[in-house]
Amino acid sequence: MPQFISLHHEDSAAVRRELAAGLCERPPRVSPKYLYDALGSRLFEAITELPEYTPTRAERSIVDTHLGDIAAAIGTGGTLVDLGAGNCAKAARLFDALQPRRYVAVDIAVDFLRDALLALEFRHPEVELVGLGMDFSAGLVLPTELGEGPFTVLYPGSSIGNFTPDEALAFLRSVRLACRGGGLLIGVDRVRDATSLQLAYDDPLQVTAAFNRNLLRRLNQLLGTDARLEDFRHLAVYDVQRSRIEMHLEALRDLTLSWPGGSCPMAAGERIHTENSCKYEPADFQALLEAAGFQDVQGWTDAQRSFSVFHARAAEG
Ligand SMILES: C[S@@+](CC[C@H](N)C(=O)[O-])C[C@H]1O[C@@H](n2cnc3c(N)ncnc32)[C@H](O)[C@@H]1O
Repeated sequence: MPQFISLHHEDSAAVRRELAAGLCERPPRVSPKYLYDALGSRLFEAITELPEYTPTRAERSIVDTHLGDIAAAIGTGGTLVDLGAGNCAKAARLFDALQPRRYVAVDIAVDFLRDALLALEFRHPEVELVGLGMDFSAGLVLPTELGEGPFTVLYPGSSIGNFTPDEALAFLRSVRLACRGGGLLIGVDRVRDATSLQLAYDDPLQVTAAFNRNLLRRLNQLLGTDARLEDFRHLAVYDVQRSRIEMHLEALRDLTLSWPGGSCPMAAGERIHTENSCKYEPADFQALLEAAGFQDVQGWTDAQRSFSVFHARAAEG
């Protein structure tokens, strides 16, 4: 049975306060971390299978092609800390090359993570598995139970794009400290043409729409809102200036979202901002890594130049 450290409790007053505060902002917003319960995590897995959503396949092809260089940069026998591990599939693909002694899977979606680790234990009994249920959105601080570094932190899937560039810099600084002298392997979506980005976040099968609208169910569960799914539609908008896709939930009629202790009136057409996915040119992301205190940055891209993978060493101090 993998060890499991639970630092996140979604039925807490802090979660309810954060959600209520976000809904009371103008425009209202909800952090994308709430998209992921067990159903949201499965819907995300389905998104990665869609022909329109290319980042997962692009990242895999880069890692497969450059596995030798990646393994040489990381070395073998260490501790891998996987941020937003989800189904743990991306890290598991690295196990043969990196032969980690220990794998620490970190995710806010605690139940989904537990199941993923149990499945992994059968396939990799040689690796010590640790689950860490936590919310790292305010910065990565790993618990002391994990012991001394160095740690190799994996942050795949361009999840760094959920932060604005300023937030990403602050987050990467916290990751640099958390590496305790190790390094970071990170996947980042590149700036691409608006049409393919738009389709990736608004697919004809409407899986991404279901993923986004599941957030209304989450609000009802976590905060006790009375949102009706049929009152909102999914919207994905590409902001060219900021090189980012934004996901929103748009009210289809005038309504009031109510919850114990609060309410949020919304006019038809008003939106709840649910996710940013910032895209980066490789040189800009390398500069961000260096500003956060990483060194010896190596980057790789795919044949379509749609995605980047970087390895960087965490400078000491
Ligand atoms: C886009 S999915 C990526 C899953 C997988 N790593 C991949 O690349 O396919 C983002 C993952 O990060 C987790 N996550 C999102 N925000 C988080 C947060 N603030 N703290 C911890 N985990 C988070 C989600 O639950 C989800 O599993």
